Amino acid sequence: MQTIRVETPSAKYDVVAGSGLVETLARRIERVAGKLPRRVFVLTSAPIWGLWGEVFQASFAEPPIVLFLPPGEENKTIKNVEGLLREMARAGGDRGSLLIAFGGGIVGDVGGFLASIFMRGIPYVQVPTTFLAQVDSSVGGKTGVNLPEGKNLVGSFYHPLAVFADIGVLATLPERELRAGLMESVKAGIIRDRALVRFMEEHAEDVLGRDPKALEKVIAASIRMKAGVVNQDERERGLRMILNLGHTVGHALEQATGYKTLLHGEAVGWGMVAALHLARQRGTISRAQFERLENLVHLYGPLPALKLRVPKVVGATVGDKKNVGGVTRFVLPVGIGDAGVVEDVTPAELEAAVGYMLAQAAERHSR
Ligand SMILES: NC(=O)c1ccc[n+]([C@@H]2O[C@H](COP(=O)([O-])OP(=O)(O)OC[C@H]3O[C@@H](n4cnc5c(N)ncnc54)[C@H](O)[C@@H]3O)[C@@H](O)[C@H]2O)c1
Repeated sequence: MQTIRVETPSAKYDVVAGSGLVETLARRIERVAGKLPRRVFVLTSAPIWGLWGEVFQASFAEPPIVLFLPPGEENKTIKNVEGLLREMARAGGDRGSLLIAFGGGIVGDVGGFLASIFMRGIPYVQVPTTFLAQVDSSVGGKTGVNLPEGKNLVGSFYHPLAVFADIGVLATLPERELRAGLMESVKAGIIRDRALVRFMEEHAEDVLGRDPKALEKVIAASIRMKAGVVNQDERERGLRMILNLGHTVGHALEQATGYKTLLHGEAVGWGMVAALHLARQRGTISRAQFERLENLVHLYGPLPALKLRVPKVVGATVGDKKNVGGVTRFVLPVGIGDAGVVEDVTPAELEAAVGYMLAQAAERHSR
């Protein structure tokens, strides 16, 4: 079990990664929150509750009030938030209530947002159940929902009291979700942690085979990386932007495919391939480093086919919300374990990087 401290100007809390955390959850929450309040809400979704609800409830003397969010990105909406807030109000929720978000990144983002606005803010705890949520979305305090106009356009920065990332619940995670989530750990290694890159290269079989020790190592290192960055730049004014390696083109791929065919981590995986190509062209990584890192991405693949053309992907990068004032921001690796943000990527460079990525996708899927 490993404990990582988040310490930002607005919040200080622990992220615990290890096995057996859900079984002992009530006691663990009491340790950080004091005696449990009369109304404890748990936001989850039916498939997750079906798999893990019994285990979850076993540690609570009084069963928590269960709120359900239907699974799927299309349900991360203001409308559902309103419905859930009303359920909480009807169930007697008050300012002393506590909310536990028990699910993947969607439940975590909506749960954090609910907690941040119900009664102007109640305490909450993240219990992430996907690999992506454990290493990424549950840490750092970003919460929110989508609008028809775009993803994550409404939300708040609101940190939990604690995060409990239980490796045990990953046992039921579909293989594709695991591999997609692992792209965020590949990213963590590339931008900040050479040792993680090496570990993931040498232990791919253990990690993909869900060996608890290997998973704990990768999850804790990824959380440590993210916490370290968030601690220095909570509101994404500078350093935190490096967490977006692979996201400029990744978001464009998600948008160009209507958020239907690619998982977020898969889009980021392909986006990293494009960023690596650009970094190689600019000389911030050597040819050997390029090959090593591209191999690492594919080691945790396979990444899905991309049936897209260059102009569509390039066009979609322009609408990205991270592009302030029309500038296309790119995170580029600098060697292995470091990265920087550039804003002067020319259309020709962007086209070349996207072209390389699409050619790779075509080649890998024609074999
Ligand atoms: N707040 C942040 O900083 C941040 C960062 C990255 C991503 N996100 C958000 O996270 C969301 C994606 O999260 P996700 O990838 O976890 O997707 P998700 O929440 O949709 O979960 C993926 C699927 O796995 C299922 N599932 C979850 N846990 C399971 C388990 N233990 N066993 C079996 N099935 C399980 C879910 O029901 C769902 O079908 C997106 O909305 C994205 O915007 C937020």
